[in-house]
Amino acid sequence: MNADAHPRLAWAITGSGHFLKESLELARRFPDVDLFLSSAGEEILSMYDYKLADLKKEFKVYRDNTASSAPVGLFYHGHYHGVVIAPATSNTVAKCALGISDTLPTNIFAQAGKRRLPAIVFACDTAPEVETESPSEWVTTYPRAIDLQYSKQLATFERVTIAESVEMLNLALQAHYSNLSHIQAHP
Ligand SMILES: Cc1cc2nc3c(=O)[nH]c(=O)nc-3n(C[C@H](O)[C@H](O)[C@H](O)COP(=O)(O)O)c2cc1C
Repeated sequence: MNADAHPRLAWAITGSGHFLKESLELARRFPDVDLFLSSAGEEILSMYDYKLADLKKEFKVYRDNTASSAPVGLFYHGHYHGVVIAPATSNTVAKCALGISDTLPTNIFAQAGKRRLPAIVFACDTAPEVETESPSEWVTTYPRAIDLQYSKQLATFERVTIAESVEMLNLALQAHYSNLSHIQAHP
């Protein structure tokens, strides 16, 4: 099949409450974004009062309800020009760094690599101390050495940008969209 004439951006949401609101706000500001939820991401959206039905009015939404991550087939047809995981849990970051793909977000990340597409990962556990918003209050968490290690490891991957703040994510997205003419959608 031929490459899609108008490729889109595949944006994964994982089960992180940290920077969920800010990530969704950014997803709304960029064009042609489709959402890919992990099962935990879908649960967290509901815990933070986001309704799937409302998101479906704004985005095409792919849920993690097949063992094979069936929507990755879209990547074989040049449907996407890049992948974003924002927010990315430490679980998803670790799996991506280890080459594990057993959820929709980790599968689209793997597909981006295999199709030589750029990926941006908003890894929330990149500092030794993080102020995070639970559904009811603000709490301080202390990412473990292993969480920080996998974020660093992922930053060494080819065509992968790690964003450590909302500002960095915004800048990485702007750079991605301004480079789009140089990114080839592989048929
Ligand atoms: C309210 C709530 C908030 C959470 N926030 C985070 C978070 O900020 N960062 C994180 O790494 N995990 C967080 N988790 C845990 C993840 O959802 C859990 O590790 C899940 O297995 C991740 O799956 P996924 O990476 O496939 O989305 C949170 C869980 C709950 C219930």
